Amino acid sequence: MSETLIEAPVSQYDPFDPEVLAAVHHHDGLLREVAPVVYIEKYDFYAITRAEDIQKALRNFRVFSSADRPFYEPNPFRPNAPLMQDPPEHTQTKSVMLRIFSQENMDKMESYFTEHAERLVDELLANGSVELDAYKDLAARYVLKVFPDILGLPEEGRELLLKFGDAVFNVLGPHNDHHFQKMEAGQPALEWVGANVKREKQSEGGIGWQLYQAADEGIITPTEAEQLLTAVFGAGFDTTVFSIAGMLRAFADNPKEWAKLRENPDLVESAFEEAVRYFAPSRYGGRVAKRETELGGVRIPEGAKILVMWLGAGRDPRKWESPDEFRIDRPSASGHLSFGFGIHTCAGQAVARMEGRSILRALVKRVASIELTGEPRHAINFQAFGHDYIPVRMTPDPA
Ligand code: HEM
Repeated sequence: MSETLIEAPVSQYDPFDPEVLAAVHHHDGLLREVAPVVYIEKYDFYAITRAEDIQKALRNFRVFSSADRPFYEPNPFRPNAPLMQDPPEHTQTKSVMLRIFSQENMDKMESYFTEHAERLVDELLANGSVELDAYKDLAARYVLKVFPDILGLPEEGRELLLKFGDAVFNVLGPHNDHHFQKMEAGQPALEWVGANVKREKQSEGGIGWQLYQAADEGIITPTEAEQLLTAVFGAGFDTTVFSIAGMLRAFADNPKEWAKLRENPDLVESAFEEAVRYFAPSRYGGRVAKRETELGGVRIPEGAKILVMWLGAGRDPRKWESPDEFRIDRPSASGHLSFGFGIHTCAGQAVARMEGRSILRALVKRVASIELTGEPRHAINFQAFGHDYIPVRMTPDPA
């Protein structure tokens, strides 16, 4: 290791302080401007804060390992596969995940997602201009319809998937009152998920069934199949609901961007990417340094626990011009890190994109304007960022 390396600046920042959780973009942004790597003394971990350094670290997955992370303790809401695996185990489980979300499977889902997005928007606008909560009445309602249908889940109990996600994204943080309250509130969801990931509950040909098939083929173990399905349930709902809700909030705040999209609907894809950059639903991920290493000239000791700060990196001014502006025609929006980076990049991003784009295409055809009718609110959550109340008026196109 070179002699010229500097020690990481020591910070008293508490990423889990209630004041921080109320304004994460501001506070994680301040941390990013301190240094590319900062030592968070209170919890004894290192934060990697800037986009380029995150990419550099995660390319080096042998050193920046997923096998451990700050605050890690076995927890029923967070299975180890695939997020806590390194190669070669991770290579196997990830190949199975990518197989179930292959282009062929996604093509089969597309017409279903589109049809239901159009049906929902038609229903909401049936009587003309409508006031609604874009989180509950649109984002959550849509996601809880289409993806559980594809997974073959029963109607009853689906709303628990959001409670499950809420617990999942409050595991990785200090074990304080907030954490324990979320774990307790998630218990009924944990039971529902536990029952619905069992082999006998999977319908033939469905996503869960395909995961157990991979176990029968010996590619993964039956325990890993169950863990992967639990991971899909845990990672696949709050995140996508937050991405759609955040996108609608961003359009309500930026009517010119909505007008731009109406004029040029081909911008739907880049608009969704910009929305997940601007309001990144996942705030951070966790790693451990397998040996002493460096990043941006800063020494990271062997065994250091690390948080990789996606949300702050999404607003890194070194990467994006005017990062605090929502611009749907931003040429580089798809270079965001909101779906992660490297070997652990989001396994369900094709599903998330399909949901986000389908609902946006249905809206852009029919809705002339989206205006806030009250103060939106975002959830208080360690690891996820998202709005859980967005009162809006949607006015349909008279044509
Ligand atoms: C907008 C929605 C979503 C966002 C922002 C998001 C974000 C992320 C991020 C940042 C990671 C990387 C974590 C890390 O490296 O530490 C990740 C991984 C993962 N995501 Fe997503 N996700 C979304 C939707 C989904 C959906 C719909 C599913 C399932 C259908 C899913 C399943 C997974 C899984 C299984 C992993 C672990 C992949 C691995 O370890 O190789 N995600 N996601």
